[in-house]
Amino acid sequence: MSLENKTIYFTRGVPPVEAFPTQQLQECAATVLEEHSDTVLQYHPSIGYLPLREWLAQRHAAQPQEVMVGNGSLELQGFLAELLTSPGDVVFVEKPSYDRAITAFSKKGLEVVSVPLEGDGYRVDALEALVKEHHPKFFYIIPDFQNPSGITTSQAKREGLIKLAQQYDFWILEDNPYRDLRYWGEEIPSIYSVQQALTQDEGKGKVFFFSSFSKLLSPGMRVGYLIGPQDMLKKVAKIAEDAYITPNMLSQGIVSDYCRRGWLEPGIDRLRNLYRPKLETLIDALETHMPQARWTKPEGGFYLSLYLPPEVDLEHFRDQAHEKGVVLSDGNGFFADNDGDSFLRLPFCALSSEEIREAVKRLGLIMQAANRE
Ligand SMILES: Cc1ncc(COP(=O)(O)O)c(C=O)c1O
Repeated sequence: MSLENKTIYFTRGVPPVEAFPTQQLQECAATVLEEHSDTVLQYHPSIGYLPLREWLAQRHAAQPQEVMVGNGSLELQGFLAELLTSPGDVVFVEKPSYDRAITAFSKKGLEVVSVPLEGDGYRVDALEALVKEHHPKFFYIIPDFQNPSGITTSQAKREGLIKLAQQYDFWILEDNPYRDLRYWGEEIPSIYSVQQALTQDEGKGKVFFFSSFSKLLSPGMRVGYLIGPQDMLKKVAKIAEDAYITPNMLSQGIVSDYCRRGWLEPGIDRLRNLYRPKLETLIDALETHMPQARWTKPEGGFYLSLYLPPEVDLEHFRDQAHEKGVVLSDGNGFFADNDGDSFLRLPFCALSSEEIREAVKRLGLIMQAANRE
């Protein structure tokens, strides 16, 4: 089918199949089953596979007892939320934020309050006012190449957040699965690592760090992890054990072998080279075809977000895009207060550069027609 007649899905933040290092994973699976079948085929404590926890601890300058590996990071977030909160408690997310996290927190009976974002992260004045008003149990933040906006939180705001968490006694849940996928610009230390350098009085011990192999290796393997204070992790591990007895040990064994062979860093380089041109194409196509819209300026990750001019009706725009063969997600799910009226998330990694350019061209034509109406 020619590209002009193809339906293009600007909807899901999934990796393309060519991102999967299938052959390498086959090799790792064979080795793990040959050498460690007693462990990886057996029930196991829910804290996770020690060789992988040790490897991750070294990567994040933590202790192995401070690392828990589970079946994807989203479920670990749910377990931690269960530990830290009771129904009716207030928790903060960014506005917009990851829709599945918002749903998971809401389903636990939590009141989810959103903190507006600007180009370099949360709005300081808004956060301070909301903290004083609501006294949240935690702030769930995605500081690097945020899902869905693509925004990165500045270093000053990371430092300021730790101070505020110390002052008003709330936890920081740092969710950072895209951090390694930086395509240009300067790396900023994770909130977790900033906090490691502090004393307890300055806010050390207030941060939990989540990440995942879903975007670096494969989401189907379901391997994610949580780093935080050891005493708290023991309690999270008990919640996990009650939920699933044992995590997916075979997947953890395969991921551990992959990392220990030294394949992760070259794998990440390959992904950066695969995704960077797609983001460059998206920005270039937006500049050419949709100059009337505003968009965020991601330096990495999977997403860019687009704000349509206020006079364009988003529902109608999405319907017209569908008719022209471009499927767009409903942006409201990313807003805890359902306030996504002009917002569109554009996940670019699963599309080819040609598809990205064609989709934006079609969206640009719809927008021009809307402006003439
Ligand atoms: C910010 C964020 N956190 C967590 C996840 C889920 O990760 P996992 O597959 O490890 O559960 C995603 C997946 O898209 C995500 O974007």
